[in-house]
Amino acid sequence: MTHQTPIDALRDVMPLSAAASDDGALQLGGCDVRELAREFGTPLYIYDEHTIRQTCRDYLRDFRSQMPGARAHYASKAWLSPALVNVLVEEEFGLDVVSAGELHVALAGGMDPEQIGFHGNGKTPAELEYALEAGVGRIIVDNDDELALLDDLTRSRATEQRIMLRITPGVDAQTHAKTTTGLRDSKFGFPLPSGQAEAALVRALDAPFLDVTGFHIHLGSPLFKIQPYADGIATIGEFAAEMKQRHGYEWREFSPGGGMALTYTADHTAPVSERYAAQIAEAIHTACDTHGLPMPDVHIEPGRSVVGRAGVALYSVVSRKHIPETRDYVTVDGGMADNIRPAMYDSRYEAAAAEQMHTVPSLTVTVAGKFCESGDVLVRDVRLPSLQLGELIAIPASGAYQIAMESNYNLALRPAIVMVQDGDARLVRRRQTLDDLLHLEL
Ligand code: LLP
Repeated sequence: MTHQTPIDALRDVMPLSAAASDDGALQLGGCDVRELAREFGTPLYIYDEHTIRQTCRDYLRDFRSQMPGARAHYASKAWLSPALVNVLVEEEFGLDVVSAGELHVALAGGMDPEQIGFHGNGKTPAELEYALEAGVGRIIVDNDDELALLDDLTRSRATEQRIMLRITPGVDAQTHAKTTTGLRDSKFGFPLPSGQAEAALVRALDAPFLDVTGFHIHLGSPLFKIQPYADGIATIGEFAAEMKQRHGYEWREFSPGGGMALTYTADHTAPVSERYAAQIAEAIHTACDTHGLPMPDVHIEPGRSVVGRAGVALYSVVSRKHIPETRDYVTVDGGMADNIRPAMYDSRYEAAAAEQMHTVPSLTVTVAGKFCESGDVLVRDVRLPSLQLGELIAIPASGAYQIAMESNYNLALRPAIVMVQDGDARLVRRRQTLDDLLHLEL
């Protein structure tokens, strides 16, 4: 691999449209990153529209081939903007939202409220009212207090609301502790083994305006192994069978959540959607056959894997430092304010000299962010060629949970975002300005 040029070595991590010009500049969606940097500045987040669309199509094709009628709700927390919602609507994706903010942007982008699922363990009364008012398709109820509140709100409005119950099945997703959600000791969902999930169902079935369509699980993120889905589904299948026996309740819908992985580094490949679809479908079919349950409509909720590969973060080199017998640092003009993931989860990434995509790297370098913390390191010990000041560095697989978790730390300006396709670059969010920083101050 070390003898490969970056454009070949990073093929699986870069957007589908990635190429290199004869003189070595990274091309995304037919646009030269040098020109994008000149026009929009850096740090710049570049999304390849074709990759997003192709990923959506793969998901629907793969899941529907196993389970006709399967639906996909993109998890907006990975990145949301009206421009993205437009694309998702065209690709027949719905949305999962977790706040009034996400709901607001989803609606502003033109998403049909019926295609929205509202999640979260801390929905406020105001958020639930907003969701009811907007007419969201489903509210995924997380806990007893929310269930009681929703019962009250729907009674006083005398309007029916479809809900799913989020269940924590007690399954280890084998991922980072901070993003594991299916264990018994989780802040999310009704715990299954303790009987709380059953009690919630009984209560929900009693609520005159709540229509329980089925159950939801989300085990964690990202799940490079698919077996935890099968384990979670087997557990929920058993639960669904017991609920049918004991309460005559039959599920109509089921969601195995999101969590499908993303290839961040060339040495750790994520399974393709076809494999998730095959194993998840097999587990659901098995559960239904074993327990004599009707096949539910299945809703999947991928976030990271839909937009992650499409996004590339583009930075400029602002300083370099060689510490003899220790380390070479290259500092870029962004960092933890636009990508908190390495600091928060020790996430690993690739990096490439975006103007030297045909040059075999000769140095081992650490790409540091510009923020005032030693932990602000974007990529440790990555192979890069020698770099000039002002040269561009691209970090691929940057489309998910980076812009979504961005901050104004050190009062950094939030980066601009462009969508590229067929040689066109469309600015979908302008860069923040210094004056924007003062807008909320009274
Ligand atoms: N559904 C539910 C209920 C979720 O909580 C999540 C993610 C998803 C779906 C989508 O999961 P995905 O397909 O994107 O893996 N900030 C972390 C990830 C947190 C994920 C939270 N929930 C990160 O940067 O890795």
